[in-house]
Amino acid sequence: MPGRPYLQIPGPTLVPERIVRAMSQPVIDHRGPKFAALVEACLEGLKGVFQTARGHIVLYPGSGTGAWEAAIVNTLSPGDRVLAVVNGHFSTGFARTAEAYGIEVDKIEVDYGAGAPAGEIERRLRADGGHQLSAVLVVHNETSTGVTSNVAAVRTAMDRVKHPALLLVDTVSSLASIDFRLDEWGVDVALTGPQKGLMLPPGMAILAISEKALGASDKARCPRAYWDWKPVIERNRRGEYPYTPATVLLFGLEEALKMLNEEGLQNVFARHARLAEACRRAVRALGLEILCRNPAEHSNTLTAVVLPPGFDSDELIRRAYRRLELSLGVGLGAVKGKVFRIGHLGSLNELDLLGGLAGVEMMLKAVGVPVKLGAGLAAAQEFLLTKP
Ligand SMILES: Cc1ncc(COP(=O)(O)O)c(C=O)c1O
Repeated sequence: MPGRPYLQIPGPTLVPERIVRAMSQPVIDHRGPKFAALVEACLEGLKGVFQTARGHIVLYPGSGTGAWEAAIVNTLSPGDRVLAVVNGHFSTGFARTAEAYGIEVDKIEVDYGAGAPAGEIERRLRADGGHQLSAVLVVHNETSTGVTSNVAAVRTAMDRVKHPALLLVDTVSSLASIDFRLDEWGVDVALTGPQKGLMLPPGMAILAISEKALGASDKARCPRAYWDWKPVIERNRRGEYPYTPATVLLFGLEEALKMLNEEGLQNVFARHARLAEACRRAVRALGLEILCRNPAEHSNTLTAVVLPPGFDSDELIRRAYRRLELSLGVGLGAVKGKVFRIGHLGSLNELDLLGGLAGVEMMLKAVGVPVKLGAGLAAAQEFLLTKP
């Protein structure tokens, strides 16, 4: 198809030309001085994005799923107990990863569409007077539902009961798009991938870890080899890795970090907030419901839209791709077939969003959902024009 594809899923996102060009260069020796400078630029730059001065960055060739595993195996031991908020498909996966290592997971099950309940976390931690719980697991932005949890409130809840558990947070679909503060929010491990806010192709597992988490890894007994972060941190000091790193992705990461700095992280967050609000207004103007019920928890990187009863979101998504090469996110887990997700993250501007929304309107109409063509676009355009 001529023109550009509309990759409007909540990641991977379209890779900007600048990053593609940065990756289009000869692979360098990963034990040479050029590589050491590249590693330093990436690790330092990522500290800025995680908003940490004290934390350490560890990255591996891998994916977000691998990053879950790295977070677990380096900080916990089989038989440990953790508290996990389960409010969607990805938080379910994070909790399962812990279970796979023989960790006992106490779950706080929350309906799809709601965020981490800080009050309930506080209640559970208060009830754990003997400090049996070693960690709290939260997904900052639950990509299956379009819900952003208040991590600062989780930290406050933990502090209020003076609970020493580690705070492990998945930031796969929030980092570099939605405000996230490792130091200020006392997060011990934040994990992410490159294919969302960082605007890169998939292929890395990226972690930011606190001193406390680093200390915990001395005692953690989960089996680990590839994911052991100690040798990575040690070799990084010499600008190296204990394995062959994803050199080309690091070229791209260096460029992505430059781009984020040029725009300014706060401006990046504001751009996402504005485009997300325009998208939500479009959805409501079409008479459709947003899965996330609490406006304070609306995600600025994606919107999960509920189809009226009797319509199949998988069919809408299939048609959108076949007819327009517009990719939308499928309904995952409990909302399969009922929900489709519009991604609005990464390198995205007003016209990119409006183009995607135009396609969504067309396909809603095509599958028979009673919508007025142009109603959603008009609401989004109105908002974008009046809220510069
Ligand atoms: C919140 C969240 N966590 C984890 C993952 C898994 O990451 P990956 O697909 O890179 O393994 C995803 C993927 O979309 C995600 O959105």
